[in-house]
Amino acid sequence: MGLMLNRALERLDFLGHISDNPCYLVRTYLSPANRRAAGCLLGWMAELGMQTQHLPDGTVRGVLPGAAPEAKPLLLGSHLDTVTNAGKYDGALGLIAALAALEELRDQGIQLPFPVHLLGFSDEEGVRFQTTYLGSRGVTGQLDLETRARLDAAGQSQSLVLATEGWHEDASNIHYVAGSVRGYVELHIEQGRSLEEFDEAACVVSGINGQSRLLVTLTGRADHAGTTPMEFRRDSLTGAAEAILATEKLARDHPGLVATVGKIEVLPGGSNSIPEVTSFTLDFRHAVDAERVRLLKALENSVRKITASRELELNWQLVQENDAVVCDAELARNLCDALERVTGSRRQLASGAGHDGVAISKVAPIGMIFVRCRGGLSHHPDEYVSPADIGVGIRVLVEFLKSLPA
Ligand code: GLV
Ligand code: MN
Ligand code: MN
Repeated sequence: MGLMLNRALERLDFLGHISDNPCYLVRTYLSPANRRAAGCLLGWMAELGMQTQHLPDGTVRGVLPGAAPEAKPLLLGSHLDTVTNAGKYDGALGLIAALAALEELRDQGIQLPFPVHLLGFSDEEGVRFQTTYLGSRGVTGQLDLETRARLDAAGQSQSLVLATEGWHEDASNIHYVAGSVRGYVELHIEQGRSLEEFDEAACVVSGINGQSRLLVTLTGRADHAGTTPMEFRRDSLTGAAEAILATEKLARDHPGLVATVGKIEVLPGGSNSIPEVTSFTLDFRHAVDAERVRLLKALENSVRKITASRELELNWQLVQENDAVVCDAELARNLCDALERVTGSRRQLASGAGHDGVAISKVAPIGMIFVRCRGGLSHHPDEYVSPADIGVGIRVLVEFLKSLPA
């Protein structure tokens, strides 16, 4: 296990240096660095004896046939992409841990009685097209035309990006349909503080909270900054500022709700022009779907009042919405049994972050393992998981895989 853990840590470090920017870690959907990282994973999967495949949309897959190649496969996976200025564990740890667990089984001379498919998804974070799970939605046939038509910062649609790469419009040539796999299991960092508070290295995930992602656009009128009296202005940016503060207040007033404006764009964007158009992203999450929907409607009403009073047009665009997903009870029980054998705990926690399991849950039962990360910090270069905790996570995965019946 020591050698295996060292190799896992080296691989994490290696992937952590594969970036589209020399100053910080970033790998987005189909970016050069994302494809280099996918190539590394393919190489490691091939070394393990997996049959490998690089899908047209940048997702990679390794297949271990096991003792019964015709049996329904178990899917393991996580994502290769990162946010901008990321830490090296979010996504990559799940892939490296799965590889390490499969290597451990091989070294113990254990052949699983079912096939394993290890999937490295090309996009989970949604940075490039502001819409998540492109990889896992791709392999489960859930990429709709609206998503394919979304534009990146360079004005290219996802369809165009694929076509430019010389690939077929049908973004994925793997389709997992409902009932075709026995389950999907992902190990991921917790990205919260609970495991630190409990002083536990790992836990099992009970479910994944729902989320809504929107693009909100306010349109006023551009004018001269030096000559336009304050009462004649239709400034979209000050309207957006009021809307963003209303968002923060709503979330502070409703425990359980988390709402984030993470990106803002202003046009024409000059210091001496009154902002005509301001658009911002809105990420809106709550553990209870009905509450999320109710509070989002309340926020929309408040923002409509703000924009009306400022004579601004409002475009309230829902980009993506996912209800909460409950992890499969049997997989969770098997994972808890494995966790208990390794740590003595059967703790389960809900995930506030989104994961590829949300998309996969449409076709298969899902389960997840969380590993403690320092201070709960994530989406930050100081994200950190101790080698000892990574070792625990890998052992839980090994125990889980060994325990599954044919
Ligand atoms: C993924 O990191 C998410 O936004 O939850
Ligand atoms: Mn992640
Ligand atoms: Mn993330």
